[in-house]
Amino acid sequence: KLLIVDFGSQVTQLIARRLRELSVYCEIHPFQTVTPDFLAEFEPRAVILSGGPASVPDPGSPRPPMEIFELGVPILGICYGQQVMVQMLGGEVVRTPGTAEFGRAYVSPGEERLELLRGWFHGEREQVWMSHGDHVARLAPGFEVYATSPGAPFAVIADPERRFFGVQFHPEVHHTPHGKVLYENFVALAGFTGDWTMGAYREQAVQAIRDQVGDARVICALSGGVDSSVAALLIHEAIGEQLTCVFVDHGLLRKNEAEEVVGMFRDHYNLPLVHADESDLFLSRLEGVSDPEQKRKIIGGLFIDVFDKHAGEIGGAEFLAQGTLYPDVIESVSFAGGPSVTIKSHHNVGGLPEKMGMKLVEPLRELFKDEVRALGRELGLPDRFIGRHPFPGPGLAIRCPGEITRAKLDILREADAIFIDQIRRHGLYDEIWQAFVAILPVRTVGVMGDGRTYDYACALRAVTSVDGMTADYYPFDHDFLGETATRIINAVPGINRVTYDITSKPPGTIEWE
Ligand code: XMP
Repeated sequence: KLLIVDFGSQVTQLIARRLRELSVYCEIHPFQTVTPDFLAEFEPRAVILSGGPASVPDPGSPRPPMEIFELGVPILGICYGQQVMVQMLGGEVVRTPGTAEFGRAYVSPGEERLELLRGWFHGEREQVWMSHGDHVARLAPGFEVYATSPGAPFAVIADPERRFFGVQFHPEVHHTPHGKVLYENFVALAGFTGDWTMGAYREQAVQAIRDQVGDARVICALSGGVDSSVAALLIHEAIGEQLTCVFVDHGLLRKNEAEEVVGMFRDHYNLPLVHADESDLFLSRLEGVSDPEQKRKIIGGLFIDVFDKHAGEIGGAEFLAQGTLYPDVIESVSFAGGPSVTIKSHHNVGGLPEKMGMKLVEPLRELFKDEVRALGRELGLPDRFIGRHPFPGPGLAIRCPGEITRAKLDILREADAIFIDQIRRHGLYDEIWQAFVAILPVRTVGVMGDGRTYDYACALRAVTSVDGMTADYYPFDHDFLGETATRIINAVPGINRVTYDITSKPPGTIEWE
């Protein structure tokens, strides 16, 4: 396996991403934990030193242990990683005001050929992404320059004998368009064959769960989302009946959702599953509440209480299973007193476990979202399930602006089911990141048959997005919209007007609340 030593760069995760795409197994570890003992235990076949916000000339700036250079394995230093390597091996790094480089730059090849750069230059020069304030002033013994840019005379350096390489730019980001070639060359010269597959991961993860849990009991909050579903199936494969899942039904789910989730996991997969129907509790506490933040707080707080209660009834569980993903883990790494800043504390990693005082089983901690989907397929989950649109924890509560009533929720469920059915029928489901109906807190006048109606208006929402952080509304054609409006109004008593939300994010958000 390959070791990535993290010095706190915002893009360290992308290095792992690129390597996984090459079917190479790697792990990111913060520099403080990389001790000589750790190295002896880990036995990396290659090492990547990440970038980071610190400055090598500063006293106390982070260093890997000197032993890392005595392992006899290939090392690639990126940006800060390059500089720290050069400094520790006898070169010099300086900060010269005015020579900082940020953004796009162009690198040209030197005279000598280098294995790392094989096949990289597609013309005279390659576009790269730079982000550095310091630079190498004097190379360490054994190193030569293999490529330069106007602002970085040491853009690519290497000691080919020892297989130590340093790049001043970031080959892992999209703005270094052919950066993947450098990673391909690096892992090839380190002897990786690209044999890390989901099948192998599944076996390894099952064994790791057995080792961690022994014969203790585990409980898992199953939401029916992809992450918790895959985590539950994997743990069930490892320890069978020692696992109990709790499906908290807060009464804010979509049409038939509870039946489908319970049917699939309890009846089809034989998972021991408690269907905790707590809808009365949730809906009564939400009565009369129309402030969005208050709704979220009530639902979040009740969820923890309810789960805690059911866990207590099951009794004897030592472990809590969570579908925490790799991006959650990395975002939550903060370097106490160190160089990096905490971007956010993800809700997956906090809350429940602290409150319950249980040990965690997190079998997806090393995976990215698309890898979780691949693992789900490997475990036999149907494609239709794996490809489902995301659904927010607070459920339909945040698609019902204003006060929530059972009557409104029932209307919303029917309209939503028709909209999704339309999208599936027209073959658009997989192009859309998320689609749903929101029921609006306004009633409008209409005419149906010969009578007057005075019913709710609803809004259709459908967006495209890569990660939910930004989004654009989906450009349905008018026939589709007309047909959908007609179906909803004809089939759903209580709605007499349909609108389409054409707000992107930003300035809007995907959900209405
Ligand atoms: P917004 O509305 O903030 O939503 O643009 C971005 C994505 O996050 C989902 N979402 C949530 N997911 N708990 C969740 O698990 C929540 O409280 C929550 N709020 C929003 C939303 O559905 C969209 O995919």
